[in-house]
Amino acid sequence: MKIISLSLPKNYPVTDNGFKTLKKYYGDMLNVSELTGKTVLDVGCGTSPFVKELRGNGINAVSLDVQKVNSPNTGSHIQGFANQMPFKDKVFDCIYSTFSIFTYLFTGNSKIQNNALEEIYRVLKPGGKARLYPVVPQDIKELIKKTKLPMKINKINSVHDQGEHFTVEILKTK
Ligand SMILES: C[S@@+](CC[C@H](N)C(=O)[O-])C[C@H]1O[C@@H](n2cnc3c(N)ncnc32)[C@H](O)[C@@H]1O
Repeated sequence: MKIISLSLPKNYPVTDNGFKTLKKYYGDMLNVSELTGKTVLDVGCGTSPFVKELRGNGINAVSLDVQKVNSPNTGSHIQGFANQMPFKDKVFDCIYSTFSIFTYLFTGNSKIQNNALEEIYRVLKPGGKARLYPVVPQDIKELIKKTKLPMKINKINSVHDQGEHFTVEILKTK
């Protein structure tokens, strides 16, 4: 398998937003009742306890980060690239990615972001959803257009947290 090289910016921030904070960002896109019985992935988890909290609620969740996260916070952590995920096709119902690869769409490497969206498409089940925060909805729209994936923006939430930011839900249509 060809390994896609990835150089992270120096001192790439590793943050640890837990469920309570993420609920402020995702609102109606983050509910334990909706996720119960589902398979969930957190892409670019950092040292976030989110997945551990989901697992504590009986949700089958795993976290992925390119960095080897050495923290008791994270539950079921897997080290790997968002743009080359170590998962089989069509395994997740829902993917979250917070303050990670899609947040830095303008400053990031667009090839990596294309590949990451292709990977999200590949590992989501049909009808599955990817929820991203904070992102620029127009950037995500253009990324979907560029990759020609059968995905669409399903929902956009506006979040007021030190300015206005957006949460986007992408639906895998087939
Ligand atoms: C700012 S942290 C966010 C952590 C957590 N999601 C939160 O909200 O607290 C961004 C994380 O994205 C990870 N990351 C960046 N590029 C990545 C990639 N291509 N594949 C996997 N993880 C990546 C970084 O290693 C970092 O841990």
